[in-house]
Amino acid sequence: QPPDRKTRMLAPDAEGINVAAALLRAGKLVAFPTETVYGLGADARDDAAVAGIYAAKARPAFNPLIVHLPDLDAVRTIAEVGPAAEDLAAAFWPGPLTLVLPVRDASELSRLVTAGLETVAVRVPAAPLAQELLRAAAIPVAAPSANPSGRISPTHAAHVMQGLVGRIDAVLDGGACEVGVESTILDVTGPPKLLRPGGLPAEALEAALGAPLARLPDHQPDRPSAPGQLTSHYAPNARLRLNAEVLRKGETLLGFGPVPDAALNLSPTGDLVEATANLFAMLHRLDTPEVTTIAVSPIPDHGLGTAINDRLKRAAAPRV
Ligand code: TXA
Ligand code: MG
Repeated sequence: QPPDRKTRMLAPDAEGINVAAALLRAGKLVAFPTETVYGLGADARDDAAVAGIYAAKARPAFNPLIVHLPDLDAVRTIAEVGPAAEDLAAAFWPGPLTLVLPVRDASELSRLVTAGLETVAVRVPAAPLAQELLRAAAIPVAAPSANPSGRISPTHAAHVMQGLVGRIDAVLDGGACEVGVESTILDVTGPPKLLRPGGLPAEALEAALGAPLARLPDHQPDRPSAPGQLTSHYAPNARLRLNAEVLRKGETLLGFGPVPDAALNLSPTGDLVEATANLFAMLHRLDTPEVTTIAVSPIPDHGLGTAINDRLKRAAAPRV
């Protein structure tokens, strides 16, 4: 797909929101900030618009999209919301949780959104700008992360521009994303199953459900039912070496906690919330020709640390 679109940067004011909403309603591609990462939005009912998302990102068409809606009532118009989903929605929406639900018969969603599945992933984002945009547009908005497929996810409008300028119609600039990693994806079409760790810690879901979650096996590259299952994802140009206790010659250290010699530090005090918010922006900053290997300090594997380690593992995976 040649980069032949004029990409407008829209300010986060009433005018910018109205223009973004009108573009979405006209079948255009608009990147917008959520509390997790920037999404690349399109009208989820419009085949041509949704096809544009796949083309702009060079995304494999077997990888379905998340539909964004302003509230639970809007979700009910496209999906069957069962009792478990009701409880989780009451506890965690709006917020960084995506639920996989059965598609409603009456749903007018493009088949390209669900990649032909009988289920749909839905999310009610909390970021005020995303809320205002979804209410102004008043349509279901399909939105994957606003980056070329396989690359580092965007947490600033500038990241979106770097990756997709000329391929999309606008970016609504809302500054930095507060959470910094994608939403947690939970399949509730059967016993709740964690498809992707993310911005809502699994421990919070388990506490709300009162039971441990089923999880996917770590790694199923042939059957990607969630994005993280693709072998290589979220990847910078440099190689990554994880759990680095000692820095080797020629490496650039991405630190966590009070470690010496870090080029950048996710959180000098060892705060997982701060580290999550910094993760993708720091990987973007280290994505330069001078950096050949990024060594990353060990990150605790609980709470948000699980999502950080998941993304780092994908970023370190062999490239296809
Ligand atoms: O935080 C987020 O979730 C961001 C922001 C923009 O909302 N979006 C995001 O979208 O991360 P994306 O496309 O990068 O990841 C969504 C993943 C898909 O790759 C797909 O594997 C999974 O959700 N998914 C979508 N529909 C599904 C379904 N019906 N069943 C199982 N997994 C599904
Ligand atoms: Mg993504």
